[in-house]
Amino acid sequence: MTSYNIALNFEDGVTRFIQCKDGEKVLDAAFRSKINLPMDCSDGVCGTCKCRAESGSYELGDDYIDDALTSDEAESGLVLTCQMKPSSDCVIAVPTTSVACKTGQLKFAATVARVTSHNDAAIVLELEVDAEAPAFLPGQYANINVPGSGQHRSYSFSTAPGEQRISFLIKKIPGGVMSGWLERAEVDETLELTGPLGSFYLRDVNRPLLFLAGGTGLAPFLSMLEVLTRENSQQPVHLIYGVTRNLDLVLVDEIEAYTARLANFSYSTVVAEETSQHPRKGWVTQHMPAEALNGGDVDVYLCGPPPMVDAVRRYFDETGVKPNSFYYEKFTPNAVLEVAA
Ligand code: FES
Repeated sequence: MTSYNIALNFEDGVTRFIQCKDGEKVLDAAFRSKINLPMDCSDGVCGTCKCRAESGSYELGDDYIDDALTSDEAESGLVLTCQMKPSSDCVIAVPTTSVACKTGQLKFAATVARVTSHNDAAIVLELEVDAEAPAFLPGQYANINVPGSGQHRSYSFSTAPGEQRISFLIKKIPGGVMSGWLERAEVDETLELTGPLGSFYLRDVNRPLLFLAGGTGLAPFLSMLEVLTRENSQQPVHLIYGVTRNLDLVLVDEIEAYTARLANFSYSTVVAEETSQHPRKGWVTQHMPAEALNGGDVDVYLCGPPPMVDAVRRYFDETGVKPNSFYYEKFTPNAVLEVAA
């Protein structure tokens, strides 16, 4: 029987995936998965189950009343989960916390498959997930418990969803808890993860995309590029990958490979360091090709440190460029600080 993958994104950044059978209502499918979405009547009368469908196709039928959901609301993407029958995979934003819905972060275990150091600047950590491949939206992250430290660190998946082998791109920090552990990590060692988390993920692609990556903020874009390639996307995608030092430019071969694999993909690299001989020096904002901004008809995604987010925001303000949407994730080496659209 056909069923669809429904991502429920809660207000606290937790995402849970449920399977919704063809013809089944989202509220019922969630209940089957022991997730109590907000509801009162389950009859299309009260409006308590109102959520926002961020992507996917579905039917709402006509068994609900205007007081519960107006036609304008339905037009704008709001849905009643007690009426909504998906006809494709969907992403639904739920306006409450995962805890309020009696669910929470998903925990899973994985074993170390490979640890690869790149230029002594970053490390690719590859893990093998023993159970089912984790479901996530391209761009989301997981918290990885650092063994023996009682602490966790947050890293975006750099692989596409649905793979048993998952990987993360980790900035090497002298004295860092994760960096220190990775130096001694051994193949087959078990790690505990929680996730997926975060509202920085690839939305429906209806126009050109501009990806701005700062340092290891490249990771979520690798996941997105793989998904776009799988979907055979034809939309123009331009990635600007900015780093501090030449040494910090890692996985460029992997990016380069997408120029052959993904139609209409281009990229450039930018190095900030004054002494660098790199052909493009400075900040990503100094190297934004006008065509990549497409007169504002573009969805911009940025993952990088706070000053980069601020610089790009300023750039848009100063140049008067108003992208159709601007999604960003601010992070420091230890944590995701802010996600916004
Ligand atoms: Fe009342 Fe859906 S639960 S309208």
